[in-house]
Amino acid sequence: MSQHLTIVDHPLVQHKLTIMRATDTPTAVFRQLLREISQLLAYEVTRELEMTTKRIETPMAEMDAPTLAGKKLALISILRAGNGLLDGVLELIPSARVGFVGLYRDEETLQPVQYYFKVPESLDDRLVIAVDPMLATGNSSAAAIDLLKGAGATNIRFLCLLAAPEGIARMKEAHPDVPIVTAAVDERLNEVGYIVPGLGDAGDRMFGTK
Ligand code: URA
Repeated sequence: MSQHLTIVDHPLVQHKLTIMRATDTPTAVFRQLLREISQLLAYEVTRELEMTTKRIETPMAEMDAPTLAGKKLALISILRAGNGLLDGVLELIPSARVGFVGLYRDEETLQPVQYYFKVPESLDDRLVIAVDPMLATGNSSAAAIDLLKGAGATNIRFLCLLAAPEGIARMKEAHPDVPIVTAAVDERLNEVGYIVPGLGDAGDRMFGTK
């Protein structure tokens, strides 16, 4: 992708996001909308995938038909909220390989702490799409990308639902080579690193843990 930040301002994405933001939207609706929106975002983050052609036969004629080139791409869910995005993206790209990075945010320092890391082989040969709904401080996202680069990934994109300007700046500084695709950029972070106006804690809202 050529630009560092892509905001998917499609009306369906924006409409669904507004419902997700509202406090009184129930967990089941939130989860369903996240699934739908992640497919629309996946469509955008894969827009410039490399293509090749293959010879096929239709009932009418032979043709050189377009098909995706290269190795299967890798989707990396940044736990736990990344799983909400992952499900929808996988529906659109069912043959993708899947990995998980477990990071939690130390609530005092706001710094990421790693507790799990399992990713597909040959990351260096694949397009790697890291998914996490909320790009807030950017600390855990930048740390996750560090780990993916450490595992060999060279072609990485970051897919989120909402981003704060602070998180975008942090990612741009740490990983200028990693394009970000998001549905919206909100105003700011609050004093505990939550996105404002945001949608609250994405994990809690999708899993009903609060
Ligand atoms: N993580 C969330 O779930 N929400 C925020 O606003 C920031 C980080």
